[in-house]
Amino acid sequence: MTTIIDPTILVIFGSMGDLTWRKLSPALFNLMLSQQLPENFAVIGVDIKPASVDQFRLRIKDGVKIFCEFEGSDESIWAKFAENLTYVSHDFSEPATYEDLEKKFDAIEEKWGHPANHIFYLATPPEIVRTIVKGIGAAKLAHDRKHVRIVVEKPFGHDLASAVSLNHALKAVFDENQIYRIDHYLGKETVQNILVFRFANALFEPIWNRRYIDHVQITVAEQVGVEHRGAYYEHAGALRDMIQNHLMQILCLITMEPMVSFDADEIRNKKIDVMRAIRPTPPELVGQLAVRGQYGAGKINDHKVQAYRNEPGVSPNSSSETFAAVKLFVDNWRWQDVPFYLRTGKRLQTRCSEIMVQFRPVPHKSFPSSATQVWQPNQLLIHIQPEEGIVFKFQAKEPGATLHLSPVNMDFSYVKTFKARTPEAYETLLTDVMSGDATLFMRADSVEASWSVFMPILNVWGKQKPSDFPNYDSGTWGPEAANDLITKDGRSWYNPENEDGL
Ligand code: BG6
Repeated sequence: MTTIIDPTILVIFGSMGDLTWRKLSPALFNLMLSQQLPENFAVIGVDIKPASVDQFRLRIKDGVKIFCEFEGSDESIWAKFAENLTYVSHDFSEPATYEDLEKKFDAIEEKWGHPANHIFYLATPPEIVRTIVKGIGAAKLAHDRKHVRIVVEKPFGHDLASAVSLNHALKAVFDENQIYRIDHYLGKETVQNILVFRFANALFEPIWNRRYIDHVQITVAEQVGVEHRGAYYEHAGALRDMIQNHLMQILCLITMEPMVSFDADEIRNKKIDVMRAIRPTPPELVGQLAVRGQYGAGKINDHKVQAYRNEPGVSPNSSSETFAAVKLFVDNWRWQDVPFYLRTGKRLQTRCSEIMVQFRPVPHKSFPSSATQVWQPNQLLIHIQPEEGIVFKFQAKEPGATLHLSPVNMDFSYVKTFKARTPEAYETLLTDVMSGDATLFMRADSVEASWSVFMPILNVWGKQKPSDFPNYDSGTWGPEAANDLITKDGRSWYNPENEDGL
């Protein structure tokens, strides 16, 4: 079902930057191709960089050509899209910027013959967010609570105090229901499917608890290094960059209680219940419950790659972590004492994001040990990327006269089943912002609750500089200590190269 979207003017601050080029342009173009943009739609690019409208359009076209999955080469389609794009070069701190925007809104709306929704998309470095919000506020461009929205990218703050303060600044100008805080993982189809899988099927929910589940692993492994983002990453690190937001959101979807209705606040309330139930990590146990790492040189797909400390913008003595693993507990009736192991890292062996739910073994083994040499408890694998799907591993009898059990897969692949292109996360999120659906966005309280969970670890790591960095080679599964984190509990990481399935 296609949602009817009201006429929209999208203002992109930072419109000559990387995010606009890499993510927003292809997403908007794909939305146009799939006829999901409103009939009356305009983009106003704002950036400090002096450029003409044509130069802006060329920059967007470049992003479309490089990153779009659709053929972006048909000039007539491109021309139709391009006529909606305009550009103004302005300093974000100047009141004139916002006066000019207001004039542009008036002119566009006059041409269309009716008012439009105004969306301010902040595709800018985080330190500029306050300036823009202040400018919008001073120009009174946010007053129409129903028709004006603001989209704020991550990182949302650097720690709990800065997130609280940023929320404060935003709320001085916007109402909470106008603020869309992006976590692009929530726009991924497979992440959204977690709720459907859990709550639209009767089979799993009765066993989705501490009685049947031994532990859960959430892995987001990347092969890429820090790329051109060294300067940002030096202040962030893997825990802030990935775990505090993306992995935490996945954890919430896996562990939350069933929602009563598919309503934005209902779902967000259920997620925040989980965050509040996460057992605080005592500072003296950080060494046992959290592991950090930094990549050294190594090989990725047979190509030599350099150490993090040699990447552009990175200090040769950097103590920023490019790998983090944590063990968490959700202290409630459903999950008491079930460990959740979360890990993420750059320059790891394989690119994969997946959730592994390990069920408990059967209570009694009735089959002879000769038949069960490879008996494994059931596992459910939710693949977020690159292959998208779900695999359930169970035991089957191998064909033959001798009784022999073997683990087999029941698998669902998005591509094979639906034979349709999976929309990029940003297409989903942009559509939702334009239609005013905040379900997949983070509310102020949930950002703050998530920071609260990780502050003890960040505080300890901030005070105690690591002495062993770099402590893993590029192209491996991270530091040895990450294995210890799980093996000391008698468990092991599920690594996808062991997998047959999708
Ligand atoms: C971003 C992080 O939020 O997510 C990046 O800042 C990371 O460091 C990226 O590479 C991963 O996203 P995806 O969609 O490629 O898994």
